[in-house]
Amino acid sequence: MNLLVVGGGGREHAIIKKLKENPTVETIYALPGNGGIAQDAVCVPSIGAKDIDQIVDFAKSHAVGFAVVAPDDPLALGCVDRLHEAGIPCFGPEAKAARIEASKVFAKNLMRKYGIPTARYEVFNDPAKALAYLQNASFPIVVKADGLALGKGVLIPENFREAESAVKSIMEDRAFGDSGSEIVIEEFLTGPEVSVLAFTDGTAIVPMVSSMDHKRAGDGDTGPNTGGMGTVAPNPCYTPEAAAACMESIFLPTLAAMRAEGCPFKGCLYFGLMLTPDGPKVIEYNCRFGDPETQVVLPLLKTDLLTVMQAVENETLGDLPVEWHDGSAACVILASGGYPGSYEKGREISIPKDLPANVTVYHAGDKRTEDGTLVTSGGRVLGVTAVGGGLEAALKDAYATAERICFEGRYLRHDIGKRALRALEG
Ligand code: AMP
Ligand code: GLY
Repeated sequence: MNLLVVGGGGREHAIIKKLKENPTVETIYALPGNGGIAQDAVCVPSIGAKDIDQIVDFAKSHAVGFAVVAPDDPLALGCVDRLHEAGIPCFGPEAKAARIEASKVFAKNLMRKYGIPTARYEVFNDPAKALAYLQNASFPIVVKADGLALGKGVLIPENFREAESAVKSIMEDRAFGDSGSEIVIEEFLTGPEVSVLAFTDGTAIVPMVSSMDHKRAGDGDTGPNTGGMGTVAPNPCYTPEAAAACMESIFLPTLAAMRAEGCPFKGCLYFGLMLTPDGPKVIEYNCRFGDPETQVVLPLLKTDLLTVMQAVENETLGDLPVEWHDGSAACVILASGGYPGSYEKGREISIPKDLPANVTVYHAGDKRTEDGTLVTSGGRVLGVTAVGGGLEAALKDAYATAERICFEGRYLRHDIGKRALRALEG
């Protein structure tokens, strides 16, 4: 069978490598893919992830038997709806279910209506009213743009003055584009953060191994928010008790709420959770696999990924046993110096050929020049993942390989997994 994967980052590379393990898979097309993904799939750089018409035409003309739509934008734009209309089975939510990520206002109102634990909040579409509210608020407080903003539309002002400039930059200067026409102002929560990605067919849910992202750019969780500078799995803070509490108070109620709203969620639902002193609460939902969470979670999946994705599409997930490998995985992101701000592109990348068997390099932001040289083309360039019996070993192996990969301006955090190791020490 031919498969099509929409997207071109490290997450898509991890999905493609896993799908390739299925012996019935013939060609995998990646739209657009990237320089490194081209080692594992046929990339079509001329079709971007948001070119829905072209994606659908391509799928029809290339005998695609199953499609995976990985990034948030095409999901929110209805790529899955359109592929379904064309009779192509696929993995991912339709647009009305993707609103759970695409609109924070939708997600917050859903949680309020169905009693799903989350930070207390107010919604504003008038900056003056938002400022009046902030005058009596306690700080720090959290200000979020309503729409998709590449994980960057969240500001945490420490005082009224900072809050004022947060509201101005989101609502008036439109720092995050039209995603800032409405904002959510919410209570600041504390506690360890956990990412739980879950397969769901709308009714049955199979949470994947939990993970921990490192969103800030600098060591010690300093600097601006990024898409994620590294991940580890499983997340040691996510105890079996926390998992049971999340299943009961968050996961199952969320699926039921989406069904009740007439938009059952099928695909990968990502729960961004905070384990607060009052129990687990939802920080955010994503309608897709996380990046770079996928680069540590999928390597630990034992069951065939295509089989799981087909069970989601066919709504038979409840009948499928899904198994995981024991052990841990760690992913260290190699970024272009300056990310998440501006950075140089076109730097030549050198990756050693003799990678250890437990290490995989996922390509996120690179391309091949006309003469075949691999060069940087994005902020996050590569993700180096190692799997091992324990987290400490996995981290050591991921860092050892990361240090052997070179490109000018290469930037990485040096403390991925440190917090998780401290939690393991208890
Ligand atoms: P989000 O894009 O909603 O995941 O937010 C990005 C990051 O901001 C999260 O990973 C948290 O670290 C932080 N954050 C978001 N909402 C809150 C909150 N209510 N309280 C504390 N931190 C938050
Ligand atoms: N790593 C966070 C995300 O994918 O949204």
